[in-house]
Amino acid sequence: MPITVTPLSPALGAEIGNADIAAGIGEEDFRDILHAWHRYALVVLPGQSITEEQQVAFGARFGVLAPWSQFADDHQSKNSTIMLVSNLKENGEYIGSLQEGEIQFHSDGIYTEEPVAATMLYAVKPTTHGGETAYGNMSLAYETLAADIKARIDGLKALHAFTYNSLVTADNEAKMIGHDQVSHYVHPVVRTHPVTGRKALYVNRLMTQAIVGMEEDESRELLAFLYHHLENPDFVYQHKWRKGDTLIWDNRCLVHTRRDFPPNETRIMKRLTIKGDRPF
Ligand code: SIN
Repeated sequence: MPITVTPLSPALGAEIGNADIAAGIGEEDFRDILHAWHRYALVVLPGQSITEEQQVAFGARFGVLAPWSQFADDHQSKNSTIMLVSNLKENGEYIGSLQEGEIQFHSDGIYTEEPVAATMLYAVKPTTHGGETAYGNMSLAYETLAADIKARIDGLKALHAFTYNSLVTADNEAKMIGHDQVSHYVHPVVRTHPVTGRKALYVNRLMTQAIVGMEEDESRELLAFLYHHLENPDFVYQHKWRKGDTLIWDNRCLVHTRRDFPPNETRIMKRLTIKGDRPF
């Protein structure tokens, strides 16, 4: 049976039916998945049961896989491109990355020169409560801005920093970035998708530090306005994970946030990322 494509929300996302990664996905079906991915920015392949090797082989069909070695504390997977996203502990120590709780809206790798194009997450053990991942469509967010705001942000650049582990706090961010202790990079506030040509907002609450060359107060105000706008529920699809769900999302035009979940529930996800280009 050929694959089916069912949109998940007015904002973004589509569920792919009749696709079994472990059994193999033919060229024609994969072409349709890729087409759906470019159209909906997020595809959900439910009910998968895959090994790391199968996840890696499927991910490699979307592009060149990125290593996770930047996350030096992650030592769980033998596969150099798979990151264990989990709150699992061994001998009282976390063995995965991004272990607990809420993670605010962000775009993976935005603090690097060539941020990842895509992220794939395979749900080995989702939680029964919470732990949903919500995605925001940044093309819609950009397109719905008033003309004067578009004119104001056109050509602006913003500084982003690695803040997953709260290394950067309000008090010490300038000092730490100045001392090169966290990865950081400057990118356009509005980027253009290299495949679809659509423009998208490219700032987020978790990792964006400031608009380059703007007074601190003005930068803070403008960013607060943009965060409020881009987190509008009209642009968001929230995914409730089921065991075996395999999602691949486009970081060039989406932001995502993880909702909080009970710390006494074990959550196990396997993540890989696809290399991207420098945003323009
Ligand atoms: C992430 O932000 O990349 C992790 C998402 C999740 O754990 O659901």
